Amino acid sequence: MTLADLIPSLRTSLSCRLEPGLWPETTRSSCDGGLTVGGVDLVELAGRFGTPMIALDAADIRSRCRAYRDALPGVEIAYAAKAFLCRSMARLADQEGLALDVCSGGEVAVAAAAGFPGVRMVLHGNVKTTEDLKAAFDAHVGRIVIDSLDEIDVLAAVVPARQRVLLRVVPGVDANTHAGLTTGTEDQKFGLSIATGDAAEAVRRVLAHPALELVGLHCHIGSQVRVVARYVEAAEAMVAFLAAVTAEHGIELPELDLGGGHAVAYAAGERSLDPATFGRIVPAAVVRACRERGIAVPRLTVEPGRALVARAGVTVCRVAAVKHGLHTTFVAVDGGMSELASESSAQRPARSADRAQRGRAMSDNARPALYGARYPMRMFGRPLRAPSVTVTVVGRHCESTDVLAEDVELPADIAAGDLLAVPCSGAYHVSLASTCTQIGRAPVVAVASGAAVPMLRRETLEDLLRRDVSPCLPPASHP
Ligand SMILES: Cc1ncc(COP(=O)(O)O)c(C=O)c1O
Repeated sequence: MTLADLIPSLRTSLSCRLEPGLWPETTRSSCDGGLTVGGVDLVELAGRFGTPMIALDAADIRSRCRAYRDALPGVEIAYAAKAFLCRSMARLADQEGLALDVCSGGEVAVAAAAGFPGVRMVLHGNVKTTEDLKAAFDAHVGRIVIDSLDEIDVLAAVVPARQRVLLRVVPGVDANTHAGLTTGTEDQKFGLSIATGDAAEAVRRVLAHPALELVGLHCHIGSQVRVVARYVEAAEAMVAFLAAVTAEHGIELPELDLGGGHAVAYAAGERSLDPATFGRIVPAAVVRACRERGIAVPRLTVEPGRALVARAGVTVCRVAAVKHGLHTTFVAVDGGMSELASESSAQRPARSADRAQRGRAMSDNARPALYGARYPMRMFGRPLRAPSVTVTVVGRHCESTDVLAEDVELPADIAAGDLLAVPCSGAYHVSLASTCTQIGRAPVVAVASGAAVPMLRRETLEDLLRRDVSPCLPPASHP
């Protein structure tokens, strides 16, 4: 039993405080229910843009971009666009001097439409379609990361001019993250294995194509990686392979891209990966490994996505109903898994074997990722007077698995019409959002210096119907 259980008033006052490290840097809260981000009152914002919606603190993103640049001087910081992309986000990354990691022709096109210079884009993907490559060539993408042996001839046959390429190599490092987020080990779908000989064979084949210019190696060991030592292991494995390339071909590759995956805390008590610690340890480890092997030190690239945008986002939704079950109180909100599904939560253990089982069984879109999620939530917009109670927050989708948080503490008098804020919603929520049950996706609004600027508008029913091109099917033919 905690002190807060013994003294209900303490539980109330505890809920006035924001959990450290989870909210955007400019968030301010008060016990009368006030909540502002970027100097903008979230009650006002919800009234103006409707709920559910995502507020994104632009200053928070900028300050994290700068923290990375300060922590890693001389290292190229390529923002992983898959975490969240729209034109204004691409422009922000450009203004902050970042490069851009893109993984589809669509991402290339959005970034190009924002004027992001193609030369600072790096295109990834284990499958690149003709359309992806066309978008890359149209935008003059600087580097393309080759992910399989099959891709080499295809790429060499279609490049309009000499194309700089990297090879994605499997370093054989377990990042100790959730199995679904691990990409540095053998027998997963990304990259060329050193162990099977594919990576060495890829080097030979690329070097044989005059249209392709091999400039370096790439690896990405996974997402939500908390331990810097895993990056050191990956870097050492990559330097060993660089040295092997030098020994076999007599060339020194000038670039080494160590991918992204830097962990972010999603709940109180969780740890984020500190860019300053990464910056102090990893580049030095690369220099050391290169000296030991007698090769030149390559220029480093890192690709953080989540670490730059996750904490800038706050999802705002409105309570639609409160239902008291026999043992559980359900707070149903007008948002749900279509905007709050994030694979970030997949790293946490599922709440029960049954839930985990259901998660595995339902493997379409982002849903499995949601199971076991425990988003911290905060009621705002009116004074927090009532003692807190433990509730389950559910979404509006017609899916029994549309559970946003179990066992969260909210005021006992929470009622329909109240507003809830969910921190750490800036990464992968929008990119993994769906139109599940024909509900349009939520808007994203940038907030900074007291102003609110829409980045993505709400998806309307007209948007959904525009895609629905055939109101009737051909008549059935009867024999
Ligand atoms: C190649 C590559 N780089 C960077 C990232 C960004 O990861 P995160 O957002 O976890 O930093 C990913 C994510 O899947 C990736 O696949």
